[in-house]
Amino acid sequence: MIKLENEIEITIKPDNPNPFLRDHFTSVGTEYTADTDTLKVIGEIPKDLNGMYVRNGHNQVHEPMGVYHAFDGDGMLHAVHFEDGKATYRNRFVRTIGFLAEQAAGKSLWPGMLEPHLGHHRGWGSIGAMKDNAGTDVICHGGKLLATMSQCSEANRVDPFTLEPLLPDPWNMTISEHQGICSHFKVDNDTGELMFFNFSERPPYLHYGVIDKHNQLAHYEPIELPGIRWPHDLGVTKNYSILHDLPFIFDPELLAKGERKVTFFDQMPARFGVIPRHGTNADVKWFEGKPCFILHLSNCYEKGDEVIMEGCITLNPRKPAVGKQDHDAIQKMRKQFDKRETGYRMHRWVFNLKTGQTREEFLDDEVTEFPVVNNDYVGKPYRYSYNTLFDFDRDWWMSGVKKFDLLTGETQRYEYGKGRAGSECQVALRDNAKDEDDAYVITLVTDMNENHSECLILDAKDIGRGPIARIMLPHRIPIGAHACWVEADRMSGERGA
Ligand SMILES: [Fe+2]
Repeated sequence: MIKLENEIEITIKPDNPNPFLRDHFTSVGTEYTADTDTLKVIGEIPKDLNGMYVRNGHNQVHEPMGVYHAFDGDGMLHAVHFEDGKATYRNRFVRTIGFLAEQAAGKSLWPGMLEPHLGHHRGWGSIGAMKDNAGTDVICHGGKLLATMSQCSEANRVDPFTLEPLLPDPWNMTISEHQGICSHFKVDNDTGELMFFNFSERPPYLHYGVIDKHNQLAHYEPIELPGIRWPHDLGVTKNYSILHDLPFIFDPELLAKGERKVTFFDQMPARFGVIPRHGTNADVKWFEGKPCFILHLSNCYEKGDEVIMEGCITLNPRKPAVGKQDHDAIQKMRKQFDKRETGYRMHRWVFNLKTGQTREEFLDDEVTEFPVVNNDYVGKPYRYSYNTLFDFDRDWWMSGVKKFDLLTGETQRYEYGKGRAGSECQVALRDNAKDEDDAYVITLVTDMNENHSECLILDAKDIGRGPIARIMLPHRIPIGAHACWVEADRMSGERGA
């Protein structure tokens, strides 16, 4: 079956020169439900692969107000639900309040993150001026998908089986007072708890919270920071969470004059706040590290008196100015995304809770980002991280996946091929898995040569072998942001809830 469920009109002008609205970023308006009884499959979908891969991404509908940033577009979810050797693909826009209002108006009502001064309506995000596009991240908790954006937004709930919108959680009201929820919240599959943060331009600038396995707000705590910050991720271990205060911030002197320019202060140490999972601001132990910025962590865990945090570091972050655009805004954005410029690579921080000291080391020389691990190992000692490789000559082009064995230092890689751009991978444990990489690696690829998109399934033990199965999607989709894997036994609620 291939069913075209809806077709939303895309009103972006064909002559809009912004490269982040064209080519592999080109939006789709079609919403499908389609299964592998009809979709072409090359290879065989494993019968012990059960659950759902979901990818979020920015898919702009209307001609934008002002200069479009690649993170402004309306969120669209693409889900592939695997069950007993078959798969069903669905894609739907995240029907946020902003999306629905713009559908009713037939045009953009909110500006993007580069030109918030163009806004006429109260909005979302840390500045409170953007549309809640919900296009950055997606994760499943309590049997519901939560789609969010990186600048903080509503926790937009979506049914994992249908991708239809659901009413907000009661806790959403409480945290919306402080700009909502930031992307990159973490679920502990053992306890069913979700740890999250948000940030805003008002003191205390950061909040940290825990939603329990019954979907109740169990903990919510203001965290005092020295000023406005722009954190992107948090780490969790069995007993702690790790909060980021990084020296890539709005220049305070310019901010006092009303200009928002994110600047890297390369003499200001990074700070990492290790807080007990249900701790207070007074319990945070702050550690210093070398000046850096971090987008995404692979994982964190505890070992004796130490908390270990691993992920991708840059010593040279870039971001275009916010609110003061000039002719080279596009070039600045390109530098922000150019991983050759920023040089993100795997790094380890070790925080000693007894001595208060930090140790750091690079783990790899090659540029990688979007590190992901097996969900069941989040917060625990683990062995494998699966990171995205990039083609530096194309904007935001995920060219392959690199598997790190952090025990032996060995790596494996698989590249999608010329003209083929991937998505953030996810790791799906096989039914009755015996070890951490007894699993599949799943991604979506957009093939610009053949003008189609497909879902790839790789064997996690041997990704270099290439896909076990390729599922051809009913349309070509734009490249995306983050993804999640939802185990079949977590699609209706947390384990033990
Ligand atoms: Fe992110």
